[in-house]
Amino acid sequence: MLTTLLLIISILDAHIVQGLKFPVQIRTTTTSLSQQSSSSRLGRHVRRTGVTAQTVNTSNGSIPIANTQNAEYISNITLGGVTIPVMLDTGSSDLWVSLPVPNARDSGKTAKLEYAVGEASGHINFAPLTFDNYTVPDQAFLQVTNTSSFTTDISKLGFNGLLGLGPNSGSVIRKGIKSDNNSGDSLTSRIFQQNRTTSNFISFLLDRQGDPADPFTGQITISEYVTGFENIAQAPKLPILKVPGLTDADQHWQILTDKDTGVIGPDGQPIQMKSIVPKAPDGQYVAVLDSGFTLPQVPRKMSDAIYGRVPGAAYNEKMGIWTIPCDALINLSLNFGGQNYPIHPLDVSSSDFALTDANGKTVCAGTFQPITSAFSLLGEYDIILGMGFLRNTYTLIDYGNFVDDTSNDLDAPFVQLLSVTDVTKAHADFVKVRLNGVDTSGDAAHALLPASQGLSSPESAAEKKQHLEGDILRRWPYILLGCLVLVASLVGLVIWKCCCGRWRAKRQAKKERKELGDLPLSATKSPYRSLHDPRSVDRF
Ligand SMILES: *[C@@H]1O[C@H](CO)[C@@H](O)[C@H](O)[C@H]1NC(C)=O
Ligand SMILES: *[C@@H]1O[C@H](CO)[C@@H](O)[C@H](O)[C@H]1NC(C)=O
Ligand SMILES: *[C@@H]1O[C@H](CO)[C@@H](O)[C@H](O)[C@H]1NC(C)=O
Ligand SMILES: *[C@@H]1O[C@H](CO)[C@@H](O)[C@H](O)[C@H]1NC(C)=O
Ligand SMILES: *[C@@H]1O[C@H](CO)[C@@H](O)[C@H](O)[C@H]1NC(C)=O
Ligand SMILES: *[C@@H]1O[C@H](CO)[C@@H](O)[C@H](O)[C@H]1NC(C)=O
Ligand SMILES: *[C@@H]1O[C@H](CO)[C@@H](O)[C@H](O)[C@H]1NC(C)=O
Ligand SMILES: *[C@@H]1O[C@H](CO)[C@@H](O)[C@H](O)[C@H]1NC(C)=O
Repeated sequence: MLTTLLLIISILDAHIVQGLKFPVQIRTTTTSLSQQSSSSRLGRHVRRTGVTAQTVNTSNGSIPIANTQNAEYISNITLGGVTIPVMLDTGSSDLWVSLPVPNARDSGKTAKLEYAVGEASGHINFAPLTFDNYTVPDQAFLQVTNTSSFTTDISKLGFNGLLGLGPNSGSVIRKGIKSDNNSGDSLTSRIFQQNRTTSNFISFLLDRQGDPADPFTGQITISEYVTGFENIAQAPKLPILKVPGLTDADQHWQILTDKDTGVIGPDGQPIQMKSIVPKAPDGQYVAVLDSGFTLPQVPRKMSDAIYGRVPGAAYNEKMGIWTIPCDALINLSLNFGGQNYPIHPLDVSSSDFALTDANGKTVCAGTFQPITSAFSLLGEYDIILGMGFLRNTYTLIDYGNFVDDTSNDLDAPFVQLLSVTDVTKAHADFVKVRLNGVDTSGDAAHALLPASQGLSSPESAAEKKQHLEGDILRRWPYILLGCLVLVASLVGLVIWKCCCGRWRAKRQAKKERKELGDLPLSATKSPYRSLHDPRSVDRF
């Protein structure tokens, strides 16, 4: 029993360390894919667009977001007077940069941010930071000097750091600073704390490369709407699901899909399976909004349901993704707050990875990838909605009372999503890009296989182990309860035996007394008999 408890604790420990790796599964997906084809992929990209960062349209009060191959979304910050492009990551909560920052003040403390691929460690420094016209005079950040642990040269991908836009509770720097005041807080918290009357929200639009009809450019705002997208005010407010206090460093922007209709698959039917989140209501999934993931991460069965019935689909075990013919148009949508959010077919399969099948024919990657390394052992979420989803919504994240010391936002945090994908236009777009302008998507050759002939992807041994560990962890309150009940029964048994013994002894004594008749008073006062004083039994 003790070993079970120790096992639980050690897995729990391992998980909390793993929690920090969370944000950059991001790059696992991009780099693990690009490892296979990195040069051709980058080469192709450069030929197509000429430059890494595209030109952007600065609108009112928003700042531009550059897009590297639909895999990294990047904005400039000004830190210590230097302009630094940073990747925007709603799935983590710390700022780090790899370029030198003049006039920074060293806190003397160090921190290490661990990611699934690579780590960023260095000194926690302070410097004035400007982002979207908001200036924080002394923002805490990690000055990283060695990024060699990232398998790709990040500056070639157009950024020199990462800006975590997640909840403050996840900030490693904040814990490192251990200040009574908010001096170690994340950038968004610092901005919201400065002016208590501004609303605690950010909003962003991510553009799509390789889409001739992309209607907007990437942009991010703080405390205001992107001009032309004010309708988001009417979108349902989706409450952020809180994780238990014990693991609040693992808190993400996570919301519930609609009951029974959370994910509508290619055949128009809801994909139904059980959530791994113990407190998720029946028929709903918990989805994290994470701009740090290129490819959305879904349960393996869900990924199979999306791609397994597409004619020509194959699972690439080495890369852990489905590949499908590039001309296969797949309908997919999600439901939140009673609203339907269609996914652009160009986001359901991607031609950005220069993949080929066994015969050397170009194939596309199924972007809704089976979740493995970011699998939630503790069962905090089922799905991670990365860039492939977020390109389809104008997204607003209200930090609400996740930010300490702001007086106006006492309300719970929430997300609002405004669909920006029109199914008909997206379909026409796909026909233009992938079908050479001839709509063959309705052909018999493109019809989904019957469900009975659908393929499924194999689960690796490591994954099976992980799922088992997850099962134990998610049930640990019950296992603990079981252990406690066991302990209680054992204790109960001991007490019962003990009392029983006393009771028997008492009866024996009574019997003896009866047999001996009334004794002189002095005898009942003997030290020996006082041990059998009935009052000592009363206490139980
Ligand atoms: C830039 O913004 C202007 C004004 O909102 C708009 O007319 C124009 O189409 C935009 N350009 C691009 C490339 O989106
Ligand atoms: C900027 O925003 C204000 C208020 O939201 C609006 O009145 C104005 O027309 C906008 N300007 C531009 C150039 O979009
Ligand atoms: C920042 O402020 C300047 C000057 O007030 C203004 O011209 C500019 O549009 C603002 N930019 C943003 C992104 O708000
Ligand atoms: C960042 O700043 C650089 C240099 O000023 C500029 O070339 C680039 O376009 C900016 N990127 C974004 C996303 O604004
Ligand atoms: C950078 O970090 C890697 C491992 O993450 C290490 O092997 C290498 O020696 C480090 N380089 C320097 C200059 O510290
Ligand atoms: C926060 O506390 C630190 C000491 O822990 C102090 O140096 C700093 O000036 C304080 N900052 C503010 C804004 O009060
Ligand atoms: C705080 O925000 C409000 C509303 O956005 C604005 O009117 C006010 O000028 C701001 N105050 C300061 C000190 O920046
Ligand atoms: C996708 O859904 C539309 C209806 O929204 C339907 O007309 C079309 O046939 C579907 N396409 C495929 C390939 O399933």
